[in-house]
Amino acid sequence: MRRAVCPGSFDPITNGHLDIIERASKLYDVVHVAVLINRNKQGMFTVDERIALIEETCGHYGNIEVESHSGLLVDFCRDRGIPAIIKGLRAVSDFDYELQMAQMNHGLSGVETLFVPTSPTYSFLSSSLVKEVASLGGDVSHLLPPAVHSRLVERIAERRAQ
Ligand code: PNS
Repeated sequence: MRRAVCPGSFDPITNGHLDIIERASKLYDVVHVAVLINRNKQGMFTVDERIALIEETCGHYGNIEVESHSGLLVDFCRDRGIPAIIKGLRAVSDFDYELQMAQMNHGLSGVETLFVPTSPTYSFLSSSLVKEVASLGGDVSHLLPPAVHSRLVERIAERRAQ
């Protein structure tokens, strides 16, 4: 079985993430989508909610396994026999940090990182930008799977009501 991992915060999953996960799912037998837990970042969605949204939106690819992980990505890979990390590159600005992480991860464990150029349609897209625009009343419905968009709108309304 050829395995790869698509790691991220996925708070929440966007059409940009889906583009990369779908393309990875055509290249590998099994694609693990790893929701990395960052204890220093307060998310809009809980980790369980993020996992549920990923399963709902990627389930139909048929070869996706979604899990959370709270340690090093290389440990996640080692424990599951995953030799490759797939990362989307949106623009040159992503490259510096992604290169550092790829080199660190390779130095730590020998795991390879493969970069997939994001579709130009989504080259500006990030979960944080989507949350900011939606919180300020902007329309982000074209940037998210419909299920994710409705959950985001609900969550923003819940937070406003508090
Ligand atoms: O969606 P994000 O927040 O851009 O994803 C970044 C992520 C989660 C992939 C990265 O921070 C990561 O790999 N974190 C896991 C902890 C780890 O292994 N850190 C060392 C990286 S060299």
